[in-house]
Amino acid sequence: MTNFWKSNFPSLTSSEHVYLDSASTSQIPEVVINATCNYMREGHGNPGRGMHEFSDKAVALIEQCRHQVAQLLNASSQQIILTKSATESINFVASQFSQKLDKSHSIIVSELEHHANLLPWQKICQLTGAKLHLLKVSPKGELDLSNLENYLSDNCQLIAITQCSNVTGYQPDLKKLMKLAQKHQVPVLVDGAQAIPHQSIDIKALDCDYYVFSGHKLYAPGGVGILYCKNTSQLAPLLLGGGIVDKVTPYEYQLTSNIQKFEAGSPNMPAIVGLSAAITYINQVGFETIHNIEKQLVNDLTQQLINTELREYFSIISHPESRNIVSISSKQFHSHDIATILASQKIAVRAGHHCAQPLINALGLKHCVRVSLGLYNTHSDIQKLTSGLKQVAKVLL
Ligand SMILES: Cc1ncc(COP(=O)(O)O)c(C=O)c1O
Repeated sequence: MTNFWKSNFPSLTSSEHVYLDSASTSQIPEVVINATCNYMREGHGNPGRGMHEFSDKAVALIEQCRHQVAQLLNASSQQIILTKSATESINFVASQFSQKLDKSHSIIVSELEHHANLLPWQKICQLTGAKLHLLKVSPKGELDLSNLENYLSDNCQLIAITQCSNVTGYQPDLKKLMKLAQKHQVPVLVDGAQAIPHQSIDIKALDCDYYVFSGHKLYAPGGVGILYCKNTSQLAPLLLGGGIVDKVTPYEYQLTSNIQKFEAGSPNMPAIVGLSAAITYINQVGFETIHNIEKQLVNDLTQQLINTELREYFSIISHPESRNIVSISSKQFHSHDIATILASQKIAVRAGHHCAQPLINALGLKHCVRVSLGLYNTHSDIQKLTSGLKQVAKVLL
């Protein structure tokens, strides 16, 4: 069975590469490449900084992107802040707490987190003396919420939690978590970096206070990220500089009242144009199609790992309900050796701790190999991977 959508991705059709590292960053479809190139070819401008056509066009494009992101999330444009990345968006929210917390406060994170949603909170707690409470995972990698109410009662100021683990594809029960957080009136930041490329998000239904993701995992170029903020009235800009003020004197500034006050400095226009095009593209494909493609391939790979000689060398450590990630560990082989041998066959996977060392430790591992799928992958990719893994066993045994 062929996958029509693969033909939209020049990096995959013009070479023999088998790309199974989409959780790291996705390949870019022709329509996004064209939109980005056309923007640069037809006139690049700095929004709000000129009285000329290129600058005006940049203003319109940035607002179009904001509008498309808002529609994608079922939010309002005035809740969407354009940043550089998910990492910057999380640091943006963390910066709000540096003056507000003291040792009477606490913040809750989980063992599932990517370092991007852990280190900023560690730093804020170190700076302010606030406590960092860690929600643990079970040996199966599922989130244990049994301590949540205790932690929430400890003058908790925020929960920062992933929507989907970048190692196991596991999705914690955010409904349950949100219910308890709201009971205690504690705001919640959801790291959607690994969820948004694979499923539709309704931020009103999720009802979190902050939601973050990066464009480059969503078929857009690198350099643009999103911070959704339910209520921006108490939010202070992360950065100060050009494009965010109504009035400046040598000693004071007055911020503009609109959402642009959170976006100081010149934006990455090609990436923003690319994100708009990527959202248009994804809407065309549809999340149901994406889910059907990825889930079938996850099942296919899982069956091969369980039902062939591969089971002697590799165990699956990803979650049974993972939508697009299959992670494997091996008692016999180091994950770097596995990935290097696969790379020599032009098969791209990720190996190591995946910037999630606490989770890797909690699962009793030191490292693992992560296979992650995008809408362009095919059964042939899975066949090549499983042959590649058999080759790994031959070479390393
Ligand atoms: C779950 C999760 N959160 C945050 C990030 C950070 O994203 P970025 O490096 O694009 O800022 C990643 C990146 O892999 C991730 O997987």
